Order: sequence, then structure tokens, then C-alpha cells
Amino acid sequence: MSSNESASGVKTGPKRALRVGVIGAGVMGSNHARVLAGLPDTALVGVVDPLPAHRTRATELVGCRTFASLDELIAEGVDAVTIAAPTHLHHGIALACIARDIHVLVEKPIASSVEEGSAIVDAARRAGVTLMVGHVERFNPAVAAIKQAISGEDILSIAITRVGPFPPRMSNVGVVIDLAVHDIDLIRWFTESDIVEVQPQLSSAIAEREDIALLQFRTASGVLAHINTNWLTPFKARNVTVATRDKYVMGDLLTRQVTECFGFKPDGSYSMRHLPVGHDEPLRAELISFLEAVRTGGVPAVTGEEAVASIEIATRCLATPARPAAASARKGPRRVVG
Ligand SMILES: NC(=O)c1ccc[n+]([C@@H]2O[C@H](COP(=O)([O-])OP(=O)(O)OC[C@H]3O[C@@H](n4cnc5c(N)ncnc54)[C@H](O)[C@@H]3O)[C@@H](O)[C@H]2O)c1
Repeated sequence: MSSNESASGVKTGPKRALRVGVIGAGVMGSNHARVLAGLPDTALVGVVDPLPAHRTRATELVGCRTFASLDELIAEGVDAVTIAAPTHLHHGIALACIARDIHVLVEKPIASSVEEGSAIVDAARRAGVTLMVGHVERFNPAVAAIKQAISGEDILSIAITRVGPFPPRMSNVGVVIDLAVHDIDLIRWFTESDIVEVQPQLSSAIAEREDIALLQFRTASGVLAHINTNWLTPFKARNVTVATRDKYVMGDLLTRQVTECFGFKPDGSYSMRHLPVGHDEPLRAELISFLEAVRTGGVPAVTGEEAVASIEIATRCLATPARPAAASARKGPRRVVG
């Protein structure tokens, strides 16, 4: 498709409606297609999936065209794609699209390894196409409210809990790559600093790969951070707390309630208030942001380099092999550990 070039050298999208395709018609891909179909100045060209049943489901859900292969989608002409195929396929699919000058949003994690993620980043830079990564929590209004509340504060520590039941479809990754990578990205984003120390504790209670992870970090700026994640909790929970020198901010990313404590007095008293939180659908905000970066050639909200840095930290956590959980825990009824 025709494109221009921005001052930064990134090819910008045409002025007409952007033609966008979705690759993968699973859980995330179906959501991408649903959202894209409703965006202004955007034409959803169709969805690619090798499985006929998933193509049928996408047609029923979104009413869009479907294709059995990437080549069929590309033959229709697309300016940009979103890649929501299984993570181990991100690398090959992203490189194939970038080679055809197509702008790419790839779901998180960017790839299965640092090497593959870096190859995607390098290819996009050489081709001058926009590459953004779907770390969708950055677009959660509760996360945005936390980020705003701690802006300019001296951050001391961050604790994040992301727990829930086993996913219905087991992929070939454990909780660190599937879940903790969201929070590694948030810790880097909140602190605007790199993670320089990693202390992981991993365990596999039921799955072959790690299904419990307690991860501790120190950033270059001196912030201590902790992630508690597992697939052994019967309900979903996503909570973030940030302690700064002058505030204590608590956010529930599911209910989107964000509260801050402040005005600490020597007698132990303090003030507390609920912060205003927006209502945007995070995926919609993410896709609008991606398409805006394509149109303007500006730096996307979540760059490939940031996503590679997160997968690098996740990989370092995994260098410590997961141990089986204690025998008593495995033999007895499943316990709530969230
Ligand atoms: N941002 C988030 O919060 C979030 C949440 C869930 C999943 N994800 C990410 O999204 C991606 C997909 O996850 P999911 O849960 O939707 O998985 P899924 O298994 O539901 O869907 C994957 C789909 O890709 C299809 N597929 C397989 N090979 C393909 C190919 N060569 N070309 C096109 N499609 C192909 C499969 O048939 C399936 O329909 C993963 O990378 C995952 O990490 C992100």
C-alpha cells in the first residue's frame, strides 16, 4: 500500500482509511477484530486463521472476511496488521509482514526469546515501519490513574498481584512469560528505570512449567518491586500498590478502583481519597494509539525495544528452574495461594 515518510524516517500511513488485518482468530484476535471493525477511518480487511472453526467463529462474531493464510490477506492489500497468533509464531509472522512494508502491532510477549524479539525490532527499524507491542495494561484506565498519581513522586516500592485459575487452553509457556511479563513492563514503565537485579522463586504445583512465581526486583533507580503470580487461585485478582515517600497508592485493575493515602503526620494520621478513573476499553485505546502512530509515523506507546527488555527480564527469571511444590501441597486439595 502507498505510504509517505515522517520526519523521523518512519513510513506513515496513507490519508485515507487504514486497511488493517488481524492474524489469529483466537481469544485475543477475535477481540482485536471486534474493536477494529468499530473504529473510525479504519477498514478491517479480514482475519487470518488456519483453523476453519475459528474462521467461522470470527465471521459470526464480527461479520468480517476470513483467510486461511497470511498470503491471502496480504494479497487483499493491508497497511497494518495486528498479530494475535500463538507467541512462538510471532517472530515468523512479524518478519513476513515487515518484509512487505506492513506496519505491525504484535501481542505481548513480543516473541518467545530475546533473540527473536530483537530480530523483529531490527527488521522494523530497517524497513521503517511502525512496530508496537500489545502490553495492554498500559491502556487500563486504573493503571493510567496510578501512573499519574505517582508522577513526580519518589517511588520506593511496587507490589503487584496477578493471580487466577488455570487458563482453559494451556499454551507452551508458564506464568512468567504469560502473566508476569505484563507486570515487568508496568514496573519498568512506572519507574522509568531498568530492572537491574532479579530474584525469582518459581514452582510447578500442577503444570509442567512454572505455575507459581514470586519475583523480586531492584531497578537502577533503587526501587524494590515484587510480583506475585500464579494459576492456582480460584478467582482472578490484579492488584497494584505503590509506596512513594509521600503517598501509598492502591489500585484494583479489575474493579478499576484506585485509592491514595497521603499527608502522613507524625501522629500516624493521614488522608485518603479515591482517584478518578476513566472508562475506556483498554484494547480499544491501544489499537487507536497504534493506528495513530501508523498515521503520524510517531513513536508508538509501547516500543519493540521496551518489549524486548521485558522479555529479557522474564527470561532471566526463568533461568532459575522451577521446583515441584511441596509434596503436601500437591497431594491435598488445591489450596488458595493468591
Ligand atoms: N494482551 C493481553 O492481555 C493478552 C491476553 C491473552 C493473550 N495474549 C497474547 O495473544 C496471543 C494469542 O493468545 P490467545 O489467548 O488469543 O490464543 P488462542 O489460542 O486463543 O488464539 C491463537 C489463534 O491463532 C491461530 N493460529 C495458529 N497458527 C496461526 C498462523 N500461522 N496464522 C494465523 N493464526 C494462527 C490459532 O488457530 C488460534 O485461533 C499470544 O501471544 C498471547 O500471549 C495477550
